[in-house]
Amino acid sequence: MRDINGLTVAITGASAGIGAATARAVIAEGASAVLGARRVDRLEELAAELGPNVAVVEMDVREPADARRLVDEAYSRFGRLDALVANAGIGAYGGIMDLTDEKLKTMMDTNVAGTVWPIRAAVPGFVEQGAGDIVIVASVAGIRGNGDEAVYAATKFAQVGLAGGLDRELRESGVRVSTICPGGTATEFAMGAGRTPDMPGLADMMSAENVAEAVVTVLKQPTSMRTLIWSMRSIQEDD
Ligand SMILES: NC(=O)c1ccc[n+]([C@@H]2O[C@H](COP(=O)([O-])OP(=O)(O)OC[C@H]3O[C@@H](n4cnc5c(N)ncnc54)[C@H](OP(=O)(O)O)[C@@H]3O)[C@@H](O)[C@H]2O)c1
Repeated sequence: MRDINGLTVAITGASAGIGAATARAVIAEGASAVLGARRVDRLEELAAELGPNVAVVEMDVREPADARRLVDEAYSRFGRLDALVANAGIGAYGGIMDLTDEKLKTMMDTNVAGTVWPIRAAVPGFVEQGAGDIVIVASVAGIRGNGDEAVYAATKFAQVGLAGGLDRELRESGVRVSTICPGGTATEFAMGAGRTPDMPGLADMMSAENVAEAVVTVLKQPTSMRTLIWSMRSIQEDD
């Protein structure tokens, strides 16, 4: 396994769930972390918990300039950026006609454009240094479309397609592009948008820490190899 101690990892959607768990996990490995999300109060709280090797950037992944600020912060604060975890995302459950135009637009913009902008911000530095990891947190919904989440699945298929294309485009520059496709994970995800805190099945889901561990394992792979897609589920969930 590669040692990621001393590397710098930028994480979008670090104010909650999988992103916050990933921040804790990379700090535990001795890496530095640049945390991005809109709820800066939550980021500050997490940074206070995690100590000095953490920087916070209030950002909206739908804004290219915000994505560039996230990456710039890594270089100005820690002098380097070694990995980007494109994790921020939202979900809303309901039939194609049940969700409003506005909800669908926001979801498509957040999950698709909100993955592209941070990657575009990170790639020039990665190519210049001849190394870098891009880890996209997609979903089982990026592999298999389910009813009542078709547009969400479309955004997640888009992420998987983006990763496949980027792998072909960037591998020769030393940049690795990996996709994690988790099944149900017990976070705040889609709460009030199709999930409720008391819904049956929540207790059987994976934890944010399970997924964060996968992200760290991908980053720790020797640079002589790469992970393309890691599809993971709780033991109770079908494939
Ligand atoms: N939970 C699941 O069952 C599950 C399963 C498979 C895949 N996933 C994927 O895992 C990723 C993380 O989800 P999660 O379960 O950890 O959900 P979560 O607990 O709701 O966290 C989502 C994170 O995304 C951030 N975010 C949302 N919109 C943003 C925006 N416009 N700009 C910046 N940050 C934004 C949120 O921060 P702010 O609100 O503070 O901006 C928050 O930190 C998502 O891409 C999701 O699709 C989740």
